[in-house]
Amino acid sequence: MNQDQLKQMVGEAARDEVLKLAAGQVLGIGTGSTANCFIDALAPHRDHFLGAVSSSNATTERLLKHGFKVLNPNEVTSLPAYVDGADEIDPAGHMIKGGGGALTREKIIASMAKQFICICDSSKQVPVLGNFALPVEIIPLAQGVVTRELEKLGGKISLRMQKTGQEPFVTDNAGWILDIAGLQIANPEQTEFQINQIAGVIAVGLFAKEKADLLLVSNAAGVERIIFK
Ligand code: 5RP
Repeated sequence: MNQDQLKQMVGEAARDEVLKLAAGQVLGIGTGSTANCFIDALAPHRDHFLGAVSSSNATTERLLKHGFKVLNPNEVTSLPAYVDGADEIDPAGHMIKGGGGALTREKIIASMAKQFICICDSSKQVPVLGNFALPVEIIPLAQGVVTRELEKLGGKISLRMQKTGQEPFVTDNAGWILDIAGLQIANPEQTEFQINQIAGVIAVGLFAKEKADLLLVSNAAGVERIIFK
């Protein structure tokens, strides 16, 4: 079974999971290739939900194409669940996210939701976070000072570039992203707190406070359901 099939399988499992929620509510929906599989699987059942809150322009576009109603987060006061992928997840449900650059909106919507349902294939499960470079969204004019502060954590910092390699990658919020390679994140809560204190940081893609409540993880044998305390 290839990775695309594993993503599709977990997307369908997430569809079945959210269809257990009472009808008529708003659902938070994440960004990335696994979230896209979930959106595609949920599309025929979109009327179960009043609408969706989206974590990126790309997700909004896909939801609208499928006929979902997309609401502004400011119009919504409660979300029963937020469904999204991850770049890495540890045994406690802490995650690295932001490989697609949508970390800030992802974190905002996750903070609004009663439950974070993480969906991924088993290649994303790690004993300790940090093999995947940790993304940090910043205000562009703070690039120099934030880089110097982040270097104190011990990793190697690089400015994320567009695919052409000529210009910085620009987020949906007009921010830039610094990726920190080579960190072993033994204490995710502490690292998240430390990075959040740096002036010029918009958000860090470490989801320790907003960790997963439920993980649906696919492998060749099927989809496992892991509930975190
Ligand atoms: C985007 C994210 C994604 O959830 C993360 O990058 C996983 O993506 P994929 O499902 O494509 O592997 O955080 O900002």
